[in-house]
This record gives sequence, C-alpha cells and structure tokens, in this order.
Amino acid sequence: MAAINSVTDLSLDGDIAVLTVNSPPVNALSAAVRDGIKEGMEKAGADPNAKAIVLICDGRTFIAGADITEFGKPPSGASLPATQAAIENAPKPVIAAIHGTALGGGFEIALMAHYRVAVPSAKVGLPEIKLGLIPGAGGTIRLPRLVGVEKALDMITSGTQIGAKEAQASGIIDEIVEEGKLREGALAFARKVIAEKRPLKKIRDQNAKIEAARGRSEIFDNFRKANARKFRGFEAPEQAIKSVENAVNMPFDEAMKTERQMFLDLLKTNQSAAQRYVFFAERQVTKIPDVPDDTPTIPIKRVGVIGAGTMGGGISMNFLSAGIPVTIVEMKQDALDRGMKVMRGNYENTAKKGRMTQGDVETRMGLLSGTLELEKLADCDLVIEAVFENMDIKKDIFRKLDGIVKQGAILATNTSYLNVDEIASVTKRPEFVIGLHFFSPANVMRLLEIVRGDKTSKSVIATCMQLARKIGKIGVLVGVCHGFVGNRMLAQRQREAQKLILEGAMPWDVDRVLYDFGMPMGPFAMSDLAGLDIGWSKQTSSSSTIREILCEMDRRGQKTGAGFYDYDENRRAKPSPVVEKIILDFAQKKGVNRRKISDDEILERCIYPMINEGAKILEEGKAIRASDIDIVWINGYGWPVYRGGPMFYGETIGLDKVLAKMKEFEGKMGDDFKPSPLLAKLAGEGKGFKDAKVGAG
Ligand code: 3HC
Repeated sequence: MAAINSVTDLSLDGDIAVLTVNSPPVNALSAAVRDGIKEGMEKAGADPNAKAIVLICDGRTFIAGADITEFGKPPSGASLPATQAAIENAPKPVIAAIHGTALGGGFEIALMAHYRVAVPSAKVGLPEIKLGLIPGAGGTIRLPRLVGVEKALDMITSGTQIGAKEAQASGIIDEIVEEGKLREGALAFARKVIAEKRPLKKIRDQNAKIEAARGRSEIFDNFRKANARKFRGFEAPEQAIKSVENAVNMPFDEAMKTERQMFLDLLKTNQSAAQRYVFFAERQVTKIPDVPDDTPTIPIKRVGVIGAGTMGGGISMNFLSAGIPVTIVEMKQDALDRGMKVMRGNYENTAKKGRMTQGDVETRMGLLSGTLELEKLADCDLVIEAVFENMDIKKDIFRKLDGIVKQGAILATNTSYLNVDEIASVTKRPEFVIGLHFFSPANVMRLLEIVRGDKTSKSVIATCMQLARKIGKIGVLVGVCHGFVGNRMLAQRQREAQKLILEGAMPWDVDRVLYDFGMPMGPFAMSDLAGLDIGWSKQTSSSSTIREILCEMDRRGQKTGAGFYDYDENRRAKPSPVVEKIILDFAQKKGVNRRKISDDEILERCIYPMINEGAKILEEGKAIRASDIDIVWINGYGWPVYRGGPMFYGETIGLDKVLAKMKEFEGKMGDDFKPSPLLAKLAGEGKGFKDAKVGAG
C-alpha cells in the first residue's frame, strides 16, 4: 500500500485500484481526506494497470459527512466540489464501497461514483437539515435523479437514514455484498463491471425521474403544506424544497451552483450555528469529568417502579421497550389494574399506527408484573419511586426499600423538586441513592435529569448514564437544588408569565409570543394541558391567585373544557372573555394599574430571568456546563433547537445586552431580576458561558 497522505492509501489488487480512507473516528471529510481522495483518484485514473477504482473506508464507517469542526474556518485543502469532480471524471469505473453510515458529504461523495455497493447493515442519508443546512455538494440535485422527487424531499427534509435494502430498492445502491466482506464484494463487483464493459454511469445524466415532476409545482406545494407544522420556524427545510425544485426545473450545473450558494448562506445563519452547537452539546453531555468512561457499572437486569400512575407507567414502558423486565407496585388493586391497562393501551395505539406489531405489544407486556407488595422488589437491580411529591411519603418508602431491596441495588427517586440528599439520608446506602427525573409523558420525552446526591457513587452515576442511553434517553447529570435544572429555570418563566397578565398582558398574548419564539406552546396553554389543579385543593383555596379563582370555578384546564382558555369539543383553544374579566377584576382588586405590554417585553421578561437562573446554576456547580442546560431545555421542554437552548440564545443576544436588560428590570421591578454574579462577570469580560469554569453536583 502506498500512502497518499496521513489519512488515505492507494493500492492495487490485481487490476483494481483500491483507495482507502482512514481518518478516525468517522472518516469525516477534512482537508486531508479531501486532498487524499482527489490525489488518489487522479493517480489511480492515470495508472495504466488499474481498470477500475474502489473507494472504501477503514474503521467503523464510510465517510460520515463534511468535517463539522471545519465550518466557519478559512478554507484549506482541495475543495469538496473539486474532490467530487475527480471521482466523477475518472476515466474508469469508480465503485464506492459503503459500510456504517454514508452521510451528508460522505453520501454525496458516494453519489459521484459510477456504482455503489454496500453491506446489509450500511445506511445512507443526508442529515444536513439537522444542522440547519441543506446538502451542499449535490445531494439535493443528484438524489432526486435516483429516487424521484417525493422520496428525495422526504429524505432531505427529515435527515433520516435509510438501510441498504431500501437504498437498493430505490436505486441508490447497485449491489448488496456479504456482511464483513465489503472489500472482497466490491472487488468482485468491480471485476464484473470491467468484464461486462459497463458504462461510467453519472447520476448527473439520469433525468427520467425528475422529468416526471417537471412543471408539477403542486408536488412541492403539497409537501410544504403536509409538513408545515414540522417545519415551523426552521429556515433550512424551505431551502431544501426549493433546491429539489431547482433540480427538477434548472439545468444541472445551474441547480448545483444555486444549491452551493444556499448551503453557504445557511452556514452563516444563527439557526445553523445553534444546531451545530446542539450536535456537539449532545455528545458532550455524556462526558463527566470525574466519572471516567471505564468506571464500573452495575448490571440492570430487573427494574422496580413504585406507582402505576401516569409517571410510573410511562417510566416502566421505557424499560419494557428496551427488553428489561419491570415489577410495578401500587397500593390498591384497582389503581394497579388501571395503570397496567393504560400501558397496554399506549402500546396498542402505537401498534394501530403501524409502529409496532401486536406481537411486540405482547412481548413488552409479558415483561411486566404488577404487585401490591413492596417485598416483591427484593431482587431488583434498580427501583424507581414515582409517587406523590411529598417528602414524608418518599422518606417512608425509601426507609422500607432500604430494608427490602438487595444490597448493591440502586434506589432512585423521580422527584421533580425535592432534596435527593434528604431522601438518601434515611437509608443506610446513600451512595446507591440517585434522582432519575423523567419528563412527562415519560415514555416519549427524551430528557432524563440524573440527579447526583452528595454521596451518590460514581459507579451509580455511570450506570444511570449508560442506562439512559439504553432506553433511548439523553441523560443529563445535575446537582441537588430546588427543581434541579429544568424546573428551577421554568419557575422563573412561570413567575413572570403570572406577573405579566396582572400588569397588562392577557394569557394568549404571552402564549403567542412564546409560541412564535418557537416553543411548542406558551405557559398558559401548558397549564391548561397539565391541569390547573395540580397541587391545588378546594379546602385551602382562597381566591388569592388567578389560578385559584379558575380552579374554584371548576375551570381546571382542558380536561374540564375550560381553564385560561375556553375549549370547543375538539379541544381547540379560544381566548376566554370570562378569564379576561377575572384578570381585570383581580388586577383592580390588587390595585394594579394595567398598561400596554409590548411583545418584546413579554419575551425578555420570560426568557432573560431563565438565562440568569441558568448562570446561577452554573455558578453553584449544579450543571457541568452551559450546553448541558441547553440540552435539558431542548429535550425536556421543547425549546426550539434552532435557537440552541436558553444559554446559547443568551450568547446570540449578547450577554452584555441580557445583563443590561436584567439591570433595567431590577431597577423597575426589584430582586426577581437581580443579575447573577457569573452573568455580570462574563458580560463584563466579553466572554460566553462556555468560558465559565464550573463543576458538577
Ligand atoms: N464532523 C466532525 N466530527 C464528527 C462528525 C462530523 N461530520 N461526525 C461525528 N463526529 C465526531 C463526534 O463529534 C464524536 O466526537 P467525540 O468522540 O469527540 O465526541 C465522534 O465523531 C463520534 O461520533 P458519535 O459519538 O456521534 O458516534 P456514533 O457512532 O454514535 O455516530 C455518526 C456516528 C452516525 C456518524 C454520527 O456521528 C453522526 O450523525 N455524525 C454527523 C453526520 C452529519 O451530520 N453529516 C453531515 C455533515 S454536513 C455535510 O456533510 C455538508 C455537506 O453537504 C457539504
């Protein structure tokens, strides 16, 4: 083998040139990889002994895309288009040999080859949309030529990967070769191409599938309409649709040029910066400075869940779906039966939608056993308590569990606010106690706050981080404080939302501003959905807040057909004249002089105190890094990914501006807006949150 450079090799196998890329971890298209491919293709093309060229990768995957770390830096090395041209214009057949994932620019490299072979486990896709981009190296122009417009639109705007079999059926892959024998398979295929004198097939010349869509703008309009909700707020999907439309209607080279320009323009947007930041943040979050990757973990073969309500049921489903048996405990038989019925119902609904088989439903339910006796949890490796949010009840349960559950097992609480250390203190094994805070609906939401107590052992933390991945969640390690990271910051927003409706806004004004910002719903719509009566009791209610007044009137949210909004029979919300009057009367009673409140003020009052609270969380070391806080908000509360999370958003605005606004509000409205010293310090030094040196727990 002759090295082209540090990451590419060229060798001859009989009369086939094999160009191998070896750039761990994912063979991303760095300058060196591009240089190596371009030079290797040119050399192999000129070598009279080579009749075909196989492009293959070492390591775990084919090229997984452009090197995202290079974005925004000055260009160096061969350009991607020049590298691609070297493949397409090679004077002999080029065969891309794919294993792992050919993604983004990697897939676009494969699309330059004249043929593609893959192992059965290989996947291909264009995930650029997830980075706020569109494919920038021909993906939107070439893919429709292979798979047709509809499928290309779907793949490009969703960013999902498809498997080798589907890729073959849709015309992307020419042949599937035996698993583990990619090189041999690709060489055999190359020899077949030579023997049969197959042509140098260039996708740019294949027009049949796009011609079918030419002049049919309704295809694109229908696609826009069908996906309007999914694309709301995002800039890249519309550009992707336009570019596929260009592929259909423009000459090839013009469409390519336009695609490249759109890609470069998107690269400069805040949205793409935010989404690229989130990509790395999601990978950072698993790294815990004082819990190294090789920390021993505890095997979790059976899980116990206490409480078969909405939360306990949802939590259990995560484990059942991952093939881990669950024993669920309730106090009364009817509550247990009800809980298990709901779980079955949820699975059956998924089956009805075609996302699992009836067999899958039975397999999962077969792993579930219900009981009224805590003693049945003795052999569990992990027990998660999901009962009413009351310290005395939780302490009582943990005392009992400590006596029942085998030594070495983890005892976890799903508390949303309470002090995990206090709960741990009633056991003789505080190092095995941890918080596992799931978000509702627990079988759907991706976030899991993993709450590290003072004494929680590293092994227990490592086990829970690993388990989170196993059940398809993003685990974020946080420290003990009231409401942990997510709810602690949420409390800031909720407080301001309540104040705003007293001072002059209406619930639907606040909700509209936050919805337009990109949140799935505003705070009042959220309260109506959750139920206004959470934590409310008729006996103690004293008409002291608007929420209490609404509950007293039996306006307890969507479930009673009325809350902050009125609801029609289809649960569609309408602003409520009744609520408007209640608010006006209440404000008058409190002596508040209502004023007109601008949308800007609503947004700043709701969001800036959250950023400030996030800074306090960092200061206190309750989160490891600012990007972990952002991951909490994106995955637990639907914060728009294109705004990167509250901390990233704060930096986009400018920490100095956030600080100035907080000071202005503090002057007018007092301590709720007191800036955190960390925010003040970073803003003063012109730094960002990523520069903050903090720690965990
Ligand atoms: N550029 C730079 N680094 C990358 C990278 C990329 N495209 N893809 C992955 N990495 C890094 C990760 O940050 C991670 O680094 P770390 O170990 O320091 O944390 C390491 O590679 C391994 O990645 P994962 O932990 O994600 O490994 P997995 O095995 O779970 O997943 C993967 C592998 C499916 C390839 C996944 O990493 C992935 O989806 N990567 C992104 C693919 C992508 O978005 N490609 C499109 C890029 S944009 C583009 O190509 C533009 C073009 O159209 C011009």
